[in-house]
Amino acid sequence: MRLAVIGTGYVGLVTGVCFSELGNEVICVDKDMEKINKLRQGEIPIYEPGLQEMLWSNLDTGSIAFTTNTTEAVRNADIVVLAVGTPSLPNGEADLSYIEEAASAIGEALNGYKVIMTKSTVPVGTNGKIESWIYDRTSHPFHVVSVPEFLREGSAIRDTFNPDRIVVGTDNERAAKIVVELHRPLTDRILVTDVRSAEMIKYASNAYLATRISFINEIANICEKVGADVSQVAQGMGQDKRIGPAFLNAGIGYGGSCFPKDTKALIQIAGNVDYNFKLLKSVVEVNRDQRNNVLRKLHDFVGDLKGRTIAIWGLAFKPNTDDVREAPSLDIIEELVAEGAFVRAYDPVATANFRRLFDHSSIIWCDSAVSAAENADALCLLTEWREFAEVDLSQVAKGMKEPVLFDGRNVFNQQSKEIAAFKYYSVGRPQ
Ligand code: UGA
Repeated sequence: MRLAVIGTGYVGLVTGVCFSELGNEVICVDKDMEKINKLRQGEIPIYEPGLQEMLWSNLDTGSIAFTTNTTEAVRNADIVVLAVGTPSLPNGEADLSYIEEAASAIGEALNGYKVIMTKSTVPVGTNGKIESWIYDRTSHPFHVVSVPEFLREGSAIRDTFNPDRIVVGTDNERAAKIVVELHRPLTDRILVTDVRSAEMIKYASNAYLATRISFINEIANICEKVGADVSQVAQGMGQDKRIGPAFLNAGIGYGGSCFPKDTKALIQIAGNVDYNFKLLKSVVEVNRDQRNNVLRKLHDFVGDLKGRTIAIWGLAFKPNTDDVREAPSLDIIEELVAEGAFVRAYDPVATANFRRLFDHSSIIWCDSAVSAAENADALCLLTEWREFAEVDLSQVAKGMKEPVLFDGRNVFNQQSKEIAAFKYYSVGRPQ
């Protein structure tokens, strides 16, 4: 099939590259000329394992191309994928201005029947609006189908090729058939629903996963007080088939471009229909608080932070990505600096992105985990990059002023010989 993908952010780029890999003819569109030129050279603006190599091979075969010309891309396509951003407005609501702009451009370009597949995360009812924005600008037939995206950053390609399910939201049989056909090589688990339910499935899934994380984090906080071990608790809970083991890792809370934004948007969506989503409000509050635990523990164990040196391992909101949006590291480092501490920070790939959002003369940007810990009064692990689990901890302990290690992601075995060299604190486990 011939696909035009509007928007080359995370979702758009991964979708474009993966569908070209499946043998479709894909053209990706973005307003940003510089970005498009780089993509044409095979340079991707994000760090995502395997994506660049897959892009190169599809650029070579000519099954993927990039343009700034929406009209031409839409005219040559059977399916138009809407994958532009929906950032949060100050009140938490999703900003639909990019969606409206793209829908209008699609409407003006239509030259025959097409399916418009919405992959951007949009509030319930938005696909109806998209339909009317397009309808106002064309007399050609089209159908808008909601196909929410469930891929995770850091494992985007694996998730795209091995989806748990594909949700296809439409009441129209012709459009459903085309979209099901497109996804058939990926899975048999394709659920066709009405449009509003598809829109809701996306928010409900992210909100539920965020809820599990805040739930296990609260259990962890109680475990610390009653002397239980949250890792064992999660394991025991996860063996119940009704619960399952995923998303029960306690830590310093969730970040990223999705959970924080989508939880707040769903609270707004509920509020707009006079529903007070109390549970989800608590999930957000618990998540905010969990980040403060790092600072609370530092105060307990290091005392006043003014003039002290704190080493930070990990800036990305999770491993295998350079994304720092809403990362716990941002709040934590800003607070350390505000309290007069010196920070020595290291991340394998996310440092440049972090510095674009926050930089300060009290922060030294280090080029290895070991050098970050040198002469530090305490070391905080904020992102569970695999390389941190493999660092020579005895060398790290020797280089520190005080071997205090706060493991915000429960990466290390607290009983191990290497950890014995530290005053070691983790989340929800006996100290
Ligand atoms: C999330 C969803 O998992 C995807 O299904 C969805 O498509 C995506 O949002 C989206 O809406 O675009 P992502 O934000 O990339 O994906 O990353 P996750 O792996 O879900 O992690 C989110 C955050 O939760 C991270 O900060 C991670 O450290 C944290 N987390 C995750 C925990 O603290 N504990 C866990 O057990 C799992």
